Amino acid sequence: MINGKMVILRGLEISDTSMILPHWNKKEFMDYTGRTCPDTHETLTEWIQNTWKERRNNQKHTFGIVYRKTGFLVGYISVNIKNHISRRAGLSIGIFLPEMRDQGLGTEALTLILEYCFNTLNLLSLELNVFTNNPRAIACYTKLGFHKIGVRRKADFVNDVFLDDLMMDLLIEEWKIENTGET
Ligand SMILES: CC(C)(COP(=O)(O)OP(=O)(O)OC[C@H]1O[C@@H](n2cnc3c(N)ncnc32)[C@H](O)[C@@H]1OP(=O)(O)O)[C@@H](O)C(=O)NCCC(=O)NCCS
Repeated sequence: MINGKMVILRGLEISDTSMILPHWNKKEFMDYTGRTCPDTHETLTEWIQNTWKERRNNQKHTFGIVYRKTGFLVGYISVNIKNHISRRAGLSIGIFLPEMRDQGLGTEALTLILEYCFNTLNLLSLELNVFTNNPRAIACYTKLGFHKIGVRRKADFVNDVFLDDLMMDLLIEEWKIENTGET
């Protein structure tokens, strides 16, 4: 468990499935990540069980984002280790409920996960992908120090339009300068 001021990051539980499912399958939420296939109760439960195996194997570390004030699960955040030699990982995040967005929860969850990645998992670089039509997510990542490294044009076809996929990354040395003044 990782404690922040507004959010707590904790492992997902099977009992979270019913709460997550309706938001997870909302078209609006699926469009942000280009997911096309809705989940069933069974497949989402399997996904949650899989997050435990992935964590044990140090492949992927997935947390639920809990809003401290209410104790409700409001989102998830994942660190997907892509290369154990170069110590590089990909990040993904989603706040399920639209009304819980734009309140700083995503920024805080990401701030906590960056510290976990660089200080606990000993990673050296993090990357993420975001559609160029998602200015809120881009603003959030940029604020935390991520750099734009390229755009894969017409990467996905969502809602009858082709979307460009922006790739961003952050190196440990950049994060350290920003957060501790260390080089
Ligand atoms: C992207 C996401 C994780 C961000 O978390 P959040 O809690 O909503 O974001 P925060 O409130 O912490 O920060 C959002 C920032 O974007 C800014 N922002 C919001 N809408 C914006 C817009 N249209 N254009 C530019 N900036 C915008 C806000 O002002 C804020 O910056 P500030 O703190 O400097 O004012 C969340 O909105 C989310 O899960 N969205 C749906 C799923 C998604 O997009 N996942 C990411 C896929 S790559």
